[in-house]
Amino acid sequence: MTDRRTSDANTPLACVVLAAGMGTRMVSRRPKVLHKVAGRPLIGWLMETLRTLSPDKIVVVAGPDSKEIESATGPGVRIAVQTERKGTADAVRAALPALKGFSGDVLIACGDAPFVDARTLRALADRRRETGAGIAVAAVDDGDPSGYGRMVLDDAGFLDRIVEDKDCTPTQKKIRLWNAGLYAVDGARLEGWIARIGNANAQGEFYLTDLPAIAAGDGAKTAVLTCRDADEFAGVNTREQLADVEKSMQKKLRRAAMAAGATLIDPKTVYLSWDTTIGRDSVIGPHVVFGPGVHVGEGVEILPFSHIEGARVEPGARIGPFARLRPGAHVGEGAHVGNFVEIKNATMGAGAKANHLAYIGDAQIGAKANIGAGVITCNYDGFDKHKTLIGAGAFVGSDVTLVAPVAVGDGAYVGAGSTITRDVPSDALVVARARPTVCEGWARTYREKKGKRKAS
Ligand code: UD1
Ligand code: CA
Repeated sequence: MTDRRTSDANTPLACVVLAAGMGTRMVSRRPKVLHKVAGRPLIGWLMETLRTLSPDKIVVVAGPDSKEIESATGPGVRIAVQTERKGTADAVRAALPALKGFSGDVLIACGDAPFVDARTLRALADRRRETGAGIAVAAVDDGDPSGYGRMVLDDAGFLDRIVEDKDCTPTQKKIRLWNAGLYAVDGARLEGWIARIGNANAQGEFYLTDLPAIAAGDGAKTAVLTCRDADEFAGVNTREQLADVEKSMQKKLRRAAMAAGATLIDPKTVYLSWDTTIGRDSVIGPHVVFGPGVHVGEGVEILPFSHIEGARVEPGARIGPFARLRPGAHVGEGAHVGNFVEIKNATMGAGAKANHLAYIGDAQIGAKANIGAGVITCNYDGFDKHKTLIGAGAFVGSDVTLVAPVAVGDGAYVGAGSTITRDVPSDALVVARARPTVCEGWARTYREKKGKRKAS
């Protein structure tokens, strides 16, 4: 009996994301989908893609310690817990209670594949409906199929079954068409089919890949969506694949940054995060690393070997070389942050400068203030963090230690080498250092005395 049910594009859509695997091959204590690519957990990439489909429901299957996965998936997601990791079909079984009463398309995807395109997912659901199939599976006829499930088709091009790499006969191993790990299933029939999956296979696991054969046995059509680009379906099973995926993702992000108008002098040495934004005509030198949460305005220059995370850089600013901007750094328009300057949770006003060797933490630096070489904000007393306020146009000389909480008024001067422990009024001069003692001729006399003793 063939399944003749058809549905239209308004069919309700539920997405199930399999994310409970520990990733044995990762040799990790963390769930695999929490390993990061371009600063974002693997699963976050897929979640963003799924949200563009506006599904009626998203169910994420996580392991028993699901708290971290919950925060990585974002809002509006049902977390289903798979208590024992007994395979991909068992993971889908764990999602079934969350799908109770749902009838429509169920898209099943793996949380370890970050490049999957929304268009592919939509095409997969369409293929199932258009062919009147009970299940449609995405397959790839590109790249190296080893390690993946092989698609065994019947003479009419429908899917007979999927055979896992470890269960393949030598002839089946030669099949080039491999399982991308994406499935569109008739929601009304999913539960019944899942219940019939056993674990008599090489790994003793409940394989989701047994679903097409069971559906076919039930008289349902089993469609295939053939995809040409293996890169889109690259999954992460090992640390080496994690590094490969990172490499491809960086390439993609660099390309996007350049397309948006930023110059990357040597793109392959610049590392971006998933959410890095760089304004037009900004120039990024070689070996610059962007952690998450960085927004760079237009016409900014970032010189080589700078490390930036959680920071906002306003237009026309100049950063580096060798600068470090940490979370909460906000560099104002046209401000300069030079070599070996570290800024954390601090604002540099417009046109302010800290050109060399400084630590600015928990501070507010006024517009056009000058921070000399070696200036340190002593923001931490071993228990709490304290604020340093430097007024607009203030001049803080070299090697000044600012013991927070402390404020230096607008236009004030702080003499080099001072340790400042109390507030300085606007336009004042403060010098807090020992006065030099000069003893004329002392050195000569000393040398002569020492010289005589050596000679005798
Ligand atoms: C799976 C497919 C394979 C396909 C490949 C595509 C199976 C049996 N095999 O293999 O045919 O070619 O994906 O990338 O499905 N997971 C759970 N609970 C479990 C086991 C796994 O939630 O008990 C999750 C994992 O976190 C992962 C996904 O399911 O996100 C896939 O599991 P994985 O072990 O990576 O399967 P593959 O060996 O890659
Ligand atoms: Ca995988």
